[in-house]
Amino acid sequence: MTDTVWLDEENDLLMYIDQTRLPQETKICSCKDMVELFDIIKRLSIRGAPAIGVGAAIGLYAAASRFEDESEDGFLYSLRRSAQYINSSRPTAVNLAWALKRMVKRAEAEAGKGVDGIKAALKQEAKAIYEEDIETCRKIGEFGEPLIKDGATVLTHCNAGSLAAVRYGTALAPIYVATERGKRVSVYSDETRPLLQGARLTVYELAESGIPVTLQCDNMAASIMATGKIDAVFVGADRIAKNGDAANKIGTLGVAIIAKHFGIPFYVCAPISTVDFECESGKKIVIEQRNEREVTEMHYKSRMTHPDAKVYNPAFDVTPAELITAIITEKGVFKPDELHQIENNA
Ligand code: MRU
Repeated sequence: MTDTVWLDEENDLLMYIDQTRLPQETKICSCKDMVELFDIIKRLSIRGAPAIGVGAAIGLYAAASRFEDESEDGFLYSLRRSAQYINSSRPTAVNLAWALKRMVKRAEAEAGKGVDGIKAALKQEAKAIYEEDIETCRKIGEFGEPLIKDGATVLTHCNAGSLAAVRYGTALAPIYVATERGKRVSVYSDETRPLLQGARLTVYELAESGIPVTLQCDNMAASIMATGKIDAVFVGADRIAKNGDAANKIGTLGVAIIAKHFGIPFYVCAPISTVDFECESGKKIVIEQRNEREVTEMHYKSRMTHPDAKVYNPAFDVTPAELITAIITEKGVFKPDELHQIENNA
């Protein structure tokens, strides 16, 4: 599979696979404009917390490389404003804010080198964020792999695979590494209403990688766990609070509650950049509310409910730390209440 997002270094363009078109079509697109970048992230053409962060960093560079400001002050002002604007596209995935902050900080640190010098540094920073994502996710895979035994069946929710990052993904990384090492692993993928990231993306990428995958509707998770067939649940995260509470795709909380009921380990896989040490608890995490048409119309031939129906459409929910067996990061596997151990290295 090709990377999800990357930099076309020759032409200074953000390149990405438009995930709204998968699995029917693998369309590779480019972007060099802030307004377009906002829209790409908002409509989920680039989605998944790590991919949003990398895409935003590369996209910010692609746009900034074309800024015509001649003074450093003017350039930095335009950069900060653009970063603020892109950051408002999706509120929950902290990797977006993390990557944009990192880009702006790098530009500020290069002040004195002239606009061209700052642009060159931004290119380096965007490339570093991209490369680190590949390495980080690989390490998450390495740390998570021993938790998967040969012959295991794993359940996942949403898409936290390669499409949600640059190459390996987070929750699916341990599965990819286990498979590479000769373990037989199969996966149950929740379809993940309303935007079907599980059905459209997780099933696609696992099937393309030759990993056995079974699709189920979200309301079938309890039923399969009751049979005793599921050995572990692996999910990603969009923002993890300091106390270990983890926001992830809507429906994850239900899966965690069911897993607890049946005594099935529930693992959250995420890079440390997804941990928001400034957020004390999951109660403080802002949950993105999305357009009601995603529930009533998208993926149906026509509106499928009464015209007067009110719609509740939060994109994420928060799984409390006590339901999480462990958080798998690039620095190792932590109990949710041990996260503070890595705070100073974050
Ligand atoms: O709305 P999305 O598709 O961006 O939501 C994605 C998720 O919730 C993923 O599970 C999460 O970002 C972890 S990605 C490695």
